[in-house]
Amino acid sequence: MTINYNERIPNNVSLSEDKQLQRALERWQPKYLDWWREMGPEGFQTKDVYLRTAVSVDPRGWAQFGYVKMPDYRWGIFLTPPEKDRRVNFGDHKGEAAWQEVPGEYRSVLRRLIVTQGDTEPASVEQQHQLGRTCPSLYDLRNLFQVNVEEGRHLWAMVYLLMKHFGRDGREEAGGMLERRSGDADRPRILGAFNEKTPDWLSFFFFAMLTDRDGKYQLASLAESGFDPLSRSCKFMLTEEAHHLFVGETGIARILAKTCEVMKRIDSDDPAKVRAEGAIDLPTIQKYLNFHISVTEDLYGSEISTNAANAYTMGVKGRFEETKLHDDHRLANATYSIPDLVADRIVVREAPALTALNERLRDDYIIDCQKGVDRWNKVLEKGGTDARLNLPHKAFHRQIGIFEQVHVSPDGRVLAEAEWTRHHADWLPSEDDHAFVQSLMKPVTEPGKFASWIAPPARGINNQPIDYPYARLS
Ligand SMILES: [Fe+2]
Ligand SMILES: [Fe+2]
Repeated sequence: MTINYNERIPNNVSLSEDKQLQRALERWQPKYLDWWREMGPEGFQTKDVYLRTAVSVDPRGWAQFGYVKMPDYRWGIFLTPPEKDRRVNFGDHKGEAAWQEVPGEYRSVLRRLIVTQGDTEPASVEQQHQLGRTCPSLYDLRNLFQVNVEEGRHLWAMVYLLMKHFGRDGREEAGGMLERRSGDADRPRILGAFNEKTPDWLSFFFFAMLTDRDGKYQLASLAESGFDPLSRSCKFMLTEEAHHLFVGETGIARILAKTCEVMKRIDSDDPAKVRAEGAIDLPTIQKYLNFHISVTEDLYGSEISTNAANAYTMGVKGRFEETKLHDDHRLANATYSIPDLVADRIVVREAPALTALNERLRDDYIIDCQKGVDRWNKVLEKGGTDARLNLPHKAFHRQIGIFEQVHVSPDGRVLAEAEWTRHHADWLPSEDDHAFVQSLMKPVTEPGKFASWIAPPARGINNQPIDYPYARLS
């Protein structure tokens, strides 16, 4: 499954054997590049950046590292190798051969899933458009750009599926991907969290840890799909996604390490004193965590969803690690515990497992996030503080689903309006917090140097030293 780089569009799908598709993608390519120049990293398009490029889809050693100017990055179409004799593994078609073409009756459902996933990819590049200008180090700058070019490639992955399998509709959808803009009032991106701003690096690292992790869970569920080309696309995207999660998790861990170092040095955890030293106080970090997890939890949709049930029954979107689960993979009689509101109390009730699939995926996601928070808390412990980060209750600050109608505290109490008004600035970043974090965002671009609020990483990228020139800016 070596990738062919001799064609205009690198690929491992024998693109040259399908002239019509090749032409359609080659017509889309310059529009993509126009979009990248307009909405990709601002101010760095002509710089050499030390990036990895996929050279094969082999799980071991698929990447090659070298200096690239971002518009010259070889975006292409990479699917994992077909699995011999693959079946549909869940739903009404369980046991049938996996589909190589879109089943006619599932066309609109599959199209919607692919468009919704695809739309998030350019959206995050747009959200991060300005961040390079305030990078805390060359190492971090390079990681941001790696994430950005790979999100661009994820768009290619979804556009390939649309153009190959959805004819004219697919070509139109591919065009729409380059027309919507994150946060735009008239033509926003499809999902809420992808219209939020990513104005600073604290937000970026939480986004990469928490919102890219939603990407992991969505891609993992789509990788279970009975529609085999979608499954194979998502499997390769997941290998790229792992680096994005690494960037987010280690970014926050390094911020925590730096905050601990400062608290120890000044012998105080007073937020004002920590801030005066140019580090980020722990209460502010907790508030950013509360914000990013809550908007990301919304991405999973309503607790009860017939769309989710249908996609499962049809065999187009599975559960997380579907084939590792031990049940009938049809769920006709199964139930699942979901949260509900009774008067002003949050209770748990049983619901049909099929309609509760959104909630189940959200729960799987939260379990994974909790493990990440536990690892961050080890950093705090090692740093000599008793303070800990906590995930807020999943009803906190939600805009989608049953909790949209109520205010809930991070510890899961339904609040009266007045109490919410009194306290929400203790739980979510205030204007003052944003302004403080923004005040720290000054670029540091000397190799091996880091901003005052973040510790260096444990090691460099691709075994390079930490002071390696990960981008050449002059
Ligand atoms: Fe992505
Ligand atoms: Fe990602």
